[in-house]
Amino acid sequence: MDQIIVRGNGPLKGEIPITGAKNACLTLMPATLLTDQPLTLTNAPRLSDIRTMTALLQSLGAEVASLQEGQVLTLSSHDLNNHTADYEIVRKMRASILVLGPMLARDGHAIVSLPGGCAIGARPVDLHLKAFEAMGAQLDLRDGYVHAKAPAGGLKGAVIDFPIVSVGATENALLAATLARGTTVIKNAAREPEIVDLAQCLRRMGAHIDGEGTSTITIEGVQTLGGATHPVVTDRIELGTYMLAPAICGGEVECLGGRIDLVAAFCEKLDEAGIDVTETDRGLKVSRKNGRVRAVDVVTEPFPGFPTDLQAQMMALLCTAEGTSVLEEKIFENRFMHAPELIRMGARIDVHGGHATVHGTSKLRGARVMATDLRASVSLILAGLAAEGETVVSRVYHLDRGYEKVVRKLRGVGADIERIKGVTADE
Ligand code: UD1
Repeated sequence: MDQIIVRGNGPLKGEIPITGAKNACLTLMPATLLTDQPLTLTNAPRLSDIRTMTALLQSLGAEVASLQEGQVLTLSSHDLNNHTADYEIVRKMRASILVLGPMLARDGHAIVSLPGGCAIGARPVDLHLKAFEAMGAQLDLRDGYVHAKAPAGGLKGAVIDFPIVSVGATENALLAATLARGTTVIKNAAREPEIVDLAQCLRRMGAHIDGEGTSTITIEGVQTLGGATHPVVTDRIELGTYMLAPAICGGEVECLGGRIDLVAAFCEKLDEAGIDVTETDRGLKVSRKNGRVRAVDVVTEPFPGFPTDLQAQMMALLCTAEGTSVLEEKIFENRFMHAPELIRMGARIDVHGGHATVHGTSKLRGARVMATDLRASVSLILAGLAAEGETVVSRVYHLDRGYEKVVRKLRGVGADIERIKGVTADE
């Protein structure tokens, strides 16, 4: 399998274009199942997770055409000839569960394998299922599959009050509610920009939705939805990741397409750490010119808090900071798997339950390290940019799930990074 080799070589300078959001695209694509009219998504990222969702939708009978080298996706679900999302596809990606709501809403029945995905904690789907039950669906868990049936006449609008904030469950409920009979109110809804993007796309398709971006979303069900063209919102996690590149090894990088409102809590922490972020006509410019980064404490929270998907990358930065930082992970209980790998590079980190204490050091050293999940893998690349000598990252297939052209983008700002094809050792 492929490896990525990084050699720390000082400050970075230039521009990095930010791609459309993986997590938005993965929830927008299943919206095709709600209509027999074509849905066109522009600004789509070219990633293996998107190919997995494409394969899943095709297995259900949707047609998916990829244009402009994958940046435009045209999806059409004239007839769904299969209502079973098979384990072989679903196990690769947890977001596969997002086909359940639309199929149930449109055709009244669906069978979906329980999902897999990144190994970052238990990650159940009980909240998704409770939402459908509230809308009148009958659910049966058999042989690792959820067998779901809507009541005669289709799903019914309901009040869905989530006990904890879940991005995926909010998305699934929102998708399903667009075609339910009557009004659905989602309380304690997730407020992530990807939810706002989904609501905007569904509205373009004819849905009646109010309150996205707040914790109460109200949906008036409609009989049918039509086609639409929708641009996928900027990937705030890719944005934050590349903002950390000049933060960790110095220099100045402009992230094209970046917006402060997508990463406000993250920018506050960068500011505390002594990193400059300025808005430009084309995006966000990040620079670190003098001195070491300062230690900061970070707590991950649902949006608008600090995103869990930037915790690993932030830890890489704080490994090089002056002083001691504490990172608290409140979303996923098992999300410090990058810590032992960073320690191999000379970082000083103690993990106790949901807390990681990072004692900054002025020097990281290159080492052979292994990616354990998507965000962990890119945190090792960031650390490698700041380390002395060579860092070899294996298991980079995790990276391909969520980062388009990472080598090309970092090379474009002067990083010494390459991808070696087909290395089998240690895999
Ligand atoms: C989404 C993102 C992921 C991000 C996460 C949190 C996608 C494709 N993935 O994942 O990158 O890290 O939001 O911002 O958009 N939970 C339950 N029961 C459920 C659902 C969730 O207990 O039915 C728990 C989870 O275990 C977790 C918390 O709720 O502790 C939040 O998870 P959730 O927001 O649902 O994450 P995902 O939608 O899976």
